[in-house]
Amino acid sequence: MRHFLTLKDFTKEEILEIIELAVKIKKQTKKGKFKPYLKDQTLGMIFEKSSTRTRVSFEVGIHQLGGKGLFLSSNDLQLGRGEPMKDTARVISRMVDMVMIRTFAQSTLEEFAAYSKVPVISGLSDSYHPVQLMADYMTMVEHGKNIAPIVAYVGDGNNMTHSWLMMAAKLGFELRVATPKGYEVDAKILEDALAFAKESGAVIKIGHDPKKAIKGASVVTTDTWVSMGQEAEKAKRVADFHGFMVDEKMMTLAQSGAMFLHCLPAYRGYEVSEEVFEAHADEIFDEAENRLHAQKAVMVWLDRNRNK
Ligand code: CP
Ligand code: NVA
Repeated sequence: MRHFLTLKDFTKEEILEIIELAVKIKKQTKKGKFKPYLKDQTLGMIFEKSSTRTRVSFEVGIHQLGGKGLFLSSNDLQLGRGEPMKDTARVISRMVDMVMIRTFAQSTLEEFAAYSKVPVISGLSDSYHPVQLMADYMTMVEHGKNIAPIVAYVGDGNNMTHSWLMMAAKLGFELRVATPKGYEVDAKILEDALAFAKESGAVIKIGHDPKKAIKGASVVTTDTWVSMGQEAEKAKRVADFHGFMVDEKMMTLAQSGAMFLHCLPAYRGYEVSEEVFEAHADEIFDEAENRLHAQKAVMVWLDRNRNK
């Protein structure tokens, strides 16, 4: 049985197979065809953090696949009153067919998976956001930006950056990361990504100069400077990220026609300017919609690989 906790556990071929399936499922959906790939299955969705896209896309996704989503907020579960994750896993996984969890520590996902009888999907942790990257890469494919891409990530070295690192390292494309000093990516995750990059031929560049990262890029991306759980650090972060906003001047350094992606929610006037955001709104909201299609593909793929 396979889980979807990080792209680290997936080969290039598997990632591309899931993306291909997502494109196929999207086409069917657009024609109004909802194939019941997961008929009568239940997806448990545990949320320890807020969400708009992840919740709606998983709940609608499992519904369109013929199943049912069960929204479980940790505030309402006994988990919130101290019931151990391993007990929660052993109970819930006896009743549902798949579980999605949005949590803080990656180790929480791993613990749940270790005790689960059913496949577990990450809906974001402090370390990674792998389903988001599936949607992001799918959007690059749809917009023809997957041919020898040069991706520039400008901003905080966070869960999104780590997922971009893993995607680039697995698929073998160029990724340039620019963070302010003190906000670098996790050293262990970088080490792992560089090891995969050696095999795939990915070019990974890490630095502190956003202009250098963006120069000649075909895809530019960023994320909030203040991730969930970091609210108290907002004032310091806003000061430390001075000069890292992706604005029009910055975008002119990229290739002409470069794509801009943002996982959302976006904070205009901080990591991205209003002008850049609105100029690329079509790409950004395709990216958001693709969460639905990509995650349906992840669920179908995990179901198919359940007994392998
Ligand atoms: N991008 C993303 O995961 O959005 P939500 O936090 O709204 O789920
Ligand atoms: N880095 C952000 C991503 C939100 C989808 C966070 O963790 O809050």
